[in-house]
Amino acid sequence: MKHFIITGASKGLGEGLAIELINENHHLVCIARNESQKLKQLAAAKNCRLDFILFDLAVTHDIPAMMDSLFEQIDKVQAEGFYLVNNAGIIQPVNRVEDYDPDEAEQHMKINLVAPMLISAAFIRHTKSLPIKKRILNISSGAAFNPYYGWSCYCTGKAGLDMFGRCISEEQKEETHPVETMGVAPGIIDTGMQTTIRSTDERAFKHKEKFVEFKESGQLIPPAIAGKRIAQLLISDEFKDGTTIDVREDY
Ligand SMILES: NC(=O)c1ccc[n+]([C@@H]2O[C@H](COP(=O)([O-])OP(=O)(O)OC[C@H]3O[C@@H](n4cnc5c(N)ncnc54)[C@H](OP(=O)(O)O)[C@@H]3O)[C@@H](O)[C@H]2O)c1
Repeated sequence: MKHFIITGASKGLGEGLAIELINENHHLVCIARNESQKLKQLAAAKNCRLDFILFDLAVTHDIPAMMDSLFEQIDKVQAEGFYLVNNAGIIQPVNRVEDYDPDEAEQHMKINLVAPMLISAAFIRHTKSLPIKKRILNISSGAAFNPYYGWSCYCTGKAGLDMFGRCISEEQKEETHPVETMGVAPGIIDTGMQTTIRSTDERAFKHKEKFVEFKESGQLIPPAIAGKRIAQLLISDEFKDGTTIDVREDY
């Protein structure tokens, strides 16, 4: 049995990825504040064990206990592999730095950066001695490498997540059974996050029109297609430890 832990699987890219991974030899653990009925129905139809953990990733203090309880439900002796996808993320606040609401900025960094750090830490701790495939895939963005006016929280969080993954790779080099880590920028996907981006104030986000144009000209990737690509990367030899790739040119 391969075990997949996916944050933010209730909709968007995470849901698309989870759909792709549903089969009877996989166990999916989906972490988000809401469930996806679609996922639950598909899993039931395909005899796949799927657990939803309803959890707010902004409550970072509770993450170690949540992860302990998650691993208690898994038979590690029978496990063939463990895969963690740090996918959950938000775009807000979209604003110039001096206009941030401080609580919103803090919330953003907790969800987009601190939560994946703590989840990865627990993942490594719980799988440390297992001589099987162990992988962490961080969902990155072009915003990790390019500054965008109004997106300083988002760009900073994604850049931080990328560097965090590279630090894990560095540490794991000395392990007998290392956890591999990779980052992937998944392209521009037709999800709720893009709807939010198109509804932001142009004074706060100067590239808004470009994103409206992406949608109107049909350039957004459907979550199912993006999910398929990410699933393939996650379980194949394309997974390259210590790297971050942008899949945009692959579609
Ligand atoms: N869409 C794009 O064009 C694009 C481009 C590059 C990178 N990405 C990245 O892809 C990932 C997925 O984004 P998406 O476009 O699929 O966005 P989305 O449709 O808005 O989905 C975001 C997911 O994150 C979860 N989430 C948000 N806040 C959470 C919280 N406090 N606690 C737990 N879960 C939370 C949501 O679940 P609940 O609301 O149920 O909690 C949802 O499942 C993100 O990391 C994003 O940065 C997206």
